[in-house]
Amino acid sequence: KKVISFETIDSTNDYAKQIATNENEGTTIVSEEQTSGRGRLGRHWHSKSHEGIWMSIILKPNIVPYKAPFITLIAGASIAKALNTLGVNTKIKWPNDVIVNGKKICGILTELSAEIERINYVVLGIGINVKTMEFSSEIENIATSLYKEGYNLSRVDVVKAIIKEFETLYFDYIHKNSKLETLKVCRNYSAIIGKKIYILQGEDRELVKCIDINEDGNLIVEKDNGSIKEIVSGEVSIRG
Ligand code: BTN
Repeated sequence: KKVISFETIDSTNDYAKQIATNENEGTTIVSEEQTSGRGRLGRHWHSKSHEGIWMSIILKPNIVPYKAPFITLIAGASIAKALNTLGVNTKIKWPNDVIVNGKKICGILTELSAEIERINYVVLGIGINVKTMEFSSEIENIATSLYKEGYNLSRVDVVKAIIKEFETLYFDYIHKNSKLETLKVCRNYSAIIGKKIYILQGEDRELVKCIDINEDGNLIVEKDNGSIKEIVSGEVSIRG
């Protein structure tokens, strides 16, 4: 598979989107630094030089568009599995974040280009804080890096381990229509199942208890009045 690497770029996701139509599935963009790294919900993603893994993978899955959000769960499961294999005690905060010691070390930004019935491409953006020591004051309480938590890992080893896990889980989903292993990993490493969490939807904020992740990869929560609700991956953001 092709890897395109940069010393600096605005955003590996933006670059991936520019070239995606003419690339094969699996082409991966990495950069030492991003000058306009993007997070979810229009946020900025701190991506200083040599401090992390800033990468985007171009995917061309032959599935209907509504099945694409599950790819984010596959990515999260792959990252958690890979890091746990490398000795890092990692949890997944459904649907997008990977955390260590209660703080975020990794974010996933999945972007989709699709027509009514088919996907043109998916750009899977992964940002992992590997060596970052200092975070800006707005995020220092919620963000951390592998190094800060006491793990001194090589970025190449981390990327290799993630790609290996991702290939298997992605193949299972796309070609065998199997979500089993991804769901198992998401449940086993969940940071939120059994806990009270906030569901953020636009301006609204609702405190609920997280019960499970169902067969579709959606979150099952219980409201204060006892009613059960299904939260669809891709619709909301949570704060646990
Ligand atoms: C989030 O948690 O809000 C998602 C963060 C995603 C960051 C990665 S870094 C590589 C890729 N390029 C970007 O501009 N963003 C993603």
